[in-house]
Amino acid sequence: MESILKEGSDDGHGATGLKRVLNVRDLTFFGIAAIIGAGSFSSLGDACFKGGPGVVVLFIICGIACAFTAFCYSEFASRIPVAGSAYTYAYASFGELFAWIIGWALIMEYSIGNIYVAFSWSDYFTSFLHKVNVHMPDYLTCSYQEAKKAFLNYRELTSPEQLEFLKNQANAELINAWNNCPVAGSLKMIFDLPALVINVLITTLVYIGIKESRNFSNAMVILKLAVVALVIIVGAYYINPDNWFPVNDAGVKNFMPNGFGGVMAAVSGVFFAYIGFDAVSVLAEESKNPQRDLPRGMTYSLVICTVVYILLALVLTGVVNYKQFENVGDPLAKIFEVKNVGWMQLLVSVCAVIAMTSVLLVFQMGQPRIWMSMSRDGLLPPVFQRIHKKYKTPSFATILTGVVVGLPILFTDKTFVLDFTSIATLFAFVLVCGGVLLIPRKEKEAGRFNMPYINAQFIFPLLILAAIIILAVWAPGYFSDILNFNFSANADYAANKVSFMDLATPKISLIIFWLSCIILSIFALVKKYSLIPLMGVATCLYLLTGMTKSNWAWFLGWLLLGLVIYFFYGYKKSRLANAEQG
Ligand code: ALA
Repeated sequence: MESILKEGSDDGHGATGLKRVLNVRDLTFFGIAAIIGAGSFSSLGDACFKGGPGVVVLFIICGIACAFTAFCYSEFASRIPVAGSAYTYAYASFGELFAWIIGWALIMEYSIGNIYVAFSWSDYFTSFLHKVNVHMPDYLTCSYQEAKKAFLNYRELTSPEQLEFLKNQANAELINAWNNCPVAGSLKMIFDLPALVINVLITTLVYIGIKESRNFSNAMVILKLAVVALVIIVGAYYINPDNWFPVNDAGVKNFMPNGFGGVMAAVSGVFFAYIGFDAVSVLAEESKNPQRDLPRGMTYSLVICTVVYILLALVLTGVVNYKQFENVGDPLAKIFEVKNVGWMQLLVSVCAVIAMTSVLLVFQMGQPRIWMSMSRDGLLPPVFQRIHKKYKTPSFATILTGVVVGLPILFTDKTFVLDFTSIATLFAFVLVCGGVLLIPRKEKEAGRFNMPYINAQFIFPLLILAAIIILAVWAPGYFSDILNFNFSANADYAANKVSFMDLATPKISLIIFWLSCIILSIFALVKKYSLIPLMGVATCLYLLTGMTKSNWAWFLGWLLLGLVIYFFYGYKKSRLANAEQG
């Protein structure tokens, strides 16, 4: 830790030279700028459709998991106030290999997540243009993959009702894009131009400098909070409490019409909405008093956003029936469309564009700073540490981030990147909370964040035991369900009827979760672990159980690729490797 701190300090020999200009208000604003964005303006619609009004419960669970994690980030941030965020924390607690894995997973959170935000930004931007009567060709406002998918679905649907249904959907624009785009050779020229342009603009802004970015970001946050508050207030006026207890398929009124399973199916979208409070920690080397202000900035922004989300989810599901959110990418505008409040629709579109711009900005600033830290440790080439002489920003890493976000915009689609981002970020959170368990406890210091130590020796095992007993008594089928492997799927696999992906049942993740809890209980008992990070590990592991098998398959593939790169480069070139040789 001491050597990491030396490099991150102003007199260190590393690639410092970043300007210390940010105070606690700036950091809180940065947090909000990063958190409220595509998750609330876009993926919230799908989450409400899957979970019904009960999605509020998931927002609370995610808020709790993030709060435990924020404590752990704060603990690390106050001990190691340098720019690498979770990457640096893993370096200090688990060592080089795990740090690399986290750094690799964080590319998902920072860069790939921004692809989702850029796509959502473009959706709202084009819908705003439509409202003011400016129309771009459809093939310049959607992704190639989306258009192709819609076209293939369209081809398979033939009945007049189905075609009529499609015409009234966003699919109509996608199919139009596919059918009427320019063609070069055999390649259809379909790409999301606004998503690409906003990426270039943001990259330029981040390249030019932190101070300019800060002023821009602060202004956007104030505006977006004001409009979100307005959505809540005006929306509250239209709430019909009956919508909170819709009739489910069995004809029963239920707060969770699709059961708890339906709520958990929304986990990617809901968790995505919370991503961002941790991004504050990458600004350690640009804040005036990081040991005091980073934890405060993270906590304040997280608390504000949790309250905002719970209210938003209540308003959305209270104003219209949750089923109306099927395939809706602009849920906040949707409720006002249903209620015919034109001025709010326009305001929400403008606000969404602003909100998402600030998210793009914060993450595009975060990624280069993490790469910079990885480069200091020799895990990436030295060029990642290059600081621009005039602008004092990591120049090469900033441009590369723009490329990493920009290129996939040409060939991926929204859903894929959303799932990918959420799973990788949760994974990083588990390791950060686990890391806090491994670093030695410290004496309380005035003027710094000190995580309260609550001895989990008995509390944690008792909590787990209580949870098991409650579930066994109140939900009798729960554990037998988890253990019940899907043998018929195995038979189908043997008969070549289903793919390998359908073999593993989703319950495997729950088995791993409960086993992990039991193992953690034993460690807590023996090692007297601290309760907060332990709860952070457990709650984030629980959220991971909501991810689908294909998410896991992609994510594990990504980690594998990372490991290959590590063994070809970092393993030989890292500072630790050279120190050992020297
Ligand atoms: N939480 C951020 C958003 O919702 C990533 O856009």
